[in-house]
Amino acid sequence: MRQDHIISAKHLSREDIEAVLDRASTIADDPAAYSQRHAGSLLGLMFYEPSTRTKMSFSAAMKRLGGDIVDMGPVEYSSVQKGESLADTVRVVEGYADALVLRHPSEGSAKMAGEFVDIPLINAGDGAGQHPTQTLLDLYTIRENAGLDDLTIGIMGDLKYGRTVHSMAYALTNFETSQHFISPESLKLPRNVRYDLHEAGSSIKEHTELEAILPSLDVLYVTRIQKERFPDENEYREVAGEYQIDTDTLEAASDDLTVMHPLPRVDEIAHDVDKTDHAKYFQQAHNGVPVRMALLDLLLGGDQ
Ligand code: NCD
Repeated sequence: MRQDHIISAKHLSREDIEAVLDRASTIADDPAAYSQRHAGSLLGLMFYEPSTRTKMSFSAAMKRLGGDIVDMGPVEYSSVQKGESLADTVRVVEGYADALVLRHPSEGSAKMAGEFVDIPLINAGDGAGQHPTQTLLDLYTIRENAGLDDLTIGIMGDLKYGRTVHSMAYALTNFETSQHFISPESLKLPRNVRYDLHEAGSSIKEHTELEAILPSLDVLYVTRIQKERFPDENEYREVAGEYQIDTDTLEAASDDLTVMHPLPRVDEIAHDVDKTDHAKYFQQAHNGVPVRMALLDLLLGGDQ
């Protein structure tokens, strides 16, 4: 990898992405060959926000490489309650681990924290900002199911606050992709993300309805409305429950459509979709382990 910290998908080149995905495929084919690769290494977990998949798959990945984790635990039982700053906490935890994974509610927190440590720091979600490792496992899933070039993808739901969307949109600028963004007017992509995509020469289109675009999609990436990020509960209630799909919706889709979701879902995808061949979201979540193993392996010097 060109870089040590993984802060934003904006900084991931096609070469970086392919290095991780190729290593993940190799690991998935023969995990036993990697089971002692990082014996003795420790991964520090610092989660200031809820997490199931990201935290557990990072733990599983580190353990499946022969290493172990040191976990700050729930934020309410940490020294954060005593008023410790993020900068101080990361400097302390740096002394306990070989790499750090940080999830925090403030956008920009991972970048700031990265300035205080010399070991690799991985952004596992900074508020409505970025979630680059989710994108790596999403890209792995897309590559397995639809291929990454000549791809037509629809990204639907909360495009404003959804950090997985922002990371995905940046990463896809490395590939021959047409990106369609489907959301209510109030949850469109933030202006800065739209600007960056434009600067990267990406072909993007914005829609308020799925219907017209659905038949041309290879992948539909559905996201949850990020309730916890709305400054006003009424604003959330106005859009909650919009943009749901079910098997009836998918009748208009191509037989090969891949439906993805970073999870957790609330009501965006009806359960009747789960048993169709379109549904790849559980496979996607499982891919978190080999992809995070690959990333950790590369960051911890797996090539040396
Ligand atoms: C996502 C997140 O935390 O941004 N979850 C995840 O890591 N798989 C998506 C979400 O919470 O909606």
